[in-house]
Amino acid sequence: MLVYQSVLVVSVVQVVMCRAGVSLWPRPSPSWTPVAGRVLREALTGPLSGHQVMLMVDDGVQRSLSLDLLLTGLTSPTVLLHTTTHNTDNHFTTQQLTLSQDVLLVVVVGTGSPWLLWSPPGWLSPRVVLVLVAAQTCSARKHFQSPLLQNTPSVALLCLNHKPQTPEYSTYSVMTHFPLSANPEPLLLGTWHPNTFTTLEDLFQDQFQDLGSKDLIVTNSVNDAPLVFRRADGEVDGICARILNAMSFWLNFTFNLESSKGSSVWGERGENGSYNGMLGQVQRGEAHMVVNYFTITHQRTHDFDYSISYFAEGFGVMLRDPPPLPQWQSILYPYTGVVWASMVGVVILVTFSYYLTSFRGLHLSPIESFMIVLQSLMNQSVSQEPRVWVSRGLLGLWLLATWVLRVSYTSNLMAFLTVPALQAPLDTLEQLANADLRLCMLDYGEFVPEALATSKHPTLSNLGAKMDMVPLVQTLAYGGEEGCVELVVSTTHAHVETYSYLRLLYHNLGHGGQVYPLKEQLYLGNLAFFFTKNTPWKYKFDIGMRRLVEAGLVWYWYSDIMQDDSDKGKLWESRLPVLSLSHLQGSFLLLAVGGGLATIALLAERLLQPNTTSP
Ligand SMILES: *[C@@H]1O[C@H](CO)[C@@H](O)[C@H](O)[C@H]1NC(C)=O
Ligand SMILES: *[C@@H]1O[C@H](CO)[C@@H](O)[C@H](O)[C@H]1NC(C)=O
Ligand SMILES: *[C@@H]1O[C@H](CO)[C@@H](O)[C@H](O)[C@H]1NC(C)=O
Repeated sequence: MLVYQSVLVVSVVQVVMCRAGVSLWPRPSPSWTPVAGRVLREALTGPLSGHQVMLMVDDGVQRSLSLDLLLTGLTSPTVLLHTTTHNTDNHFTTQQLTLSQDVLLVVVVGTGSPWLLWSPPGWLSPRVVLVLVAAQTCSARKHFQSPLLQNTPSVALLCLNHKPQTPEYSTYSVMTHFPLSANPEPLLLGTWHPNTFTTLEDLFQDQFQDLGSKDLIVTNSVNDAPLVFRRADGEVDGICARILNAMSFWLNFTFNLESSKGSSVWGERGENGSYNGMLGQVQRGEAHMVVNYFTITHQRTHDFDYSISYFAEGFGVMLRDPPPLPQWQSILYPYTGVVWASMVGVVILVTFSYYLTSFRGLHLSPIESFMIVLQSLMNQSVSQEPRVWVSRGLLGLWLLATWVLRVSYTSNLMAFLTVPALQAPLDTLEQLANADLRLCMLDYGEFVPEALATSKHPTLSNLGAKMDMVPLVQTLAYGGEEGCVELVVSTTHAHVETYSYLRLLYHNLGHGGQVYPLKEQLYLGNLAFFFTKNTPWKYKFDIGMRRLVEAGLVWYWYSDIMQDDSDKGKLWESRLPVLSLSHLQGSFLLLAVGGGLATIALLAERLLQPNTTSP
């Protein structure tokens, strides 16, 4: 009696779904076949239980044993795939293709070179394969050479130890191999027993824990700080280079960023699906992988294998610091316009009240009252003490008020002189779009200008309309970025480029203290390494890189390369003002104006009334 549950319906013409009680191969079976059936059942109910299993039976098997026997009493969810030809590619949809990654593949093969191992269909790229050899002879070494087993991360092979005298006591040995290690011979893990192999980890070894000094060809461009770049001492450094170094130490492979013949073209997808540039090299298998600023995009995930994302970065916008407000105005900064206006109002009001209250006692003119009110405001003693109590009280109150005003003014002025007053910097793309600044970018075929110009978002299309391109100049150290830098320093433009590169560029050109990056970034993306499609050991990079990212090493390397801390210190230093005479320009200006006015008044008095000199 056959019992198995199907978890999905495989719509393949050649697939024959086994139905209970139907014997497909009514032939006499060799006497060891119950052993093969038992081992398969033990494997499916033991280490493989709880996982989706796709069972594929090679057509060669039917010559030696009955499938009925093999499948008797299976209880785990199993998809049975039995084919007689290997032309199954056309019948599988993408849905099954994505599924085949998570499913454990169990292959039952007979003698010869089963096509399942030697020419597996393109959609079949399982993580785990268990091969049960249902034949008296088992050529393990040959099977391990097959493309399917070479390219699968975890493989176990079950070989029959046939005992001709007592076939029912035959046993199965469990073997595995490490295709890239120094010793690629099959490795015997032991004799099959459900108590020895209880978990997936017991049965399946990680085939690519050691890449055996494999020389990985990494195509890259060394003008992509901080990802890959040439240091001042000529060495290639960068986040990607450091990740590769750590990975090569862990996985035992070699690579050479220097010798890579990476074209400077990143790689675009042509009409027929083939890429040019560095991605083209990887697609054609001329290079194993590519590093540099490559973000994970929908199309690339179809055409390549890609690692986890190790960094997120977009395009930054660099702007010139807003100019400090003119220094001669500094005496006005302590109060806002409203406070100044109300002060003028209060002075007029107090002058008027003082004039009214002291009119009878002192017979002051309005001008004299005004002078007295102003004297106290200017920190001068009041020359004439009023005799009327009401005006005394009023003057006392006014003296108190002017004291408060003087203290607050002096404190504010001091604060403004020590922290220079700047216009508020821009923070968002929207502010930038509305600001009176144009945008500048180097014309090296980046997608950003076009994407901005054709954007439906009002902010982005506004920015796109303001974009100016500067030409590529290969003879310059930064290939022409210098043109944009000049425009930014002259405060007419803002510079668009990948965020970290932009910061390093201004730092290296000595303008680090004069500019600031916009907080918001354009087209933020996740950076990853890209590998040739179906690279069997790619998953090791996922594991290793995830560890590097989660341990904070990638971020640490980034800050190290960007020299974040020292830069910040320098920035502060350049912004900390030293108080100088020029800060007091306003006061001196006022002094000069006052002195000038006083001189003119004196001269006028002298000329108009030469007789006033008292005897
Ligand atoms: C790396 O692989 C080579 C070649 O297989 C081997 O000789 C060497 O011992 C391995 N190194 C390490 C550290 O495992
Ligand atoms: C695809 O097109 C490019 C040119 O656009 C050509 O060089 C390449 O050979 C073509 N590839 C295939 C597979 O047709
Ligand atoms: C100044 O005084 C003289 C005599 O002392 C007199 O003649 C003259 O008119 C006076 N001038 C004015 C402007 O009052």
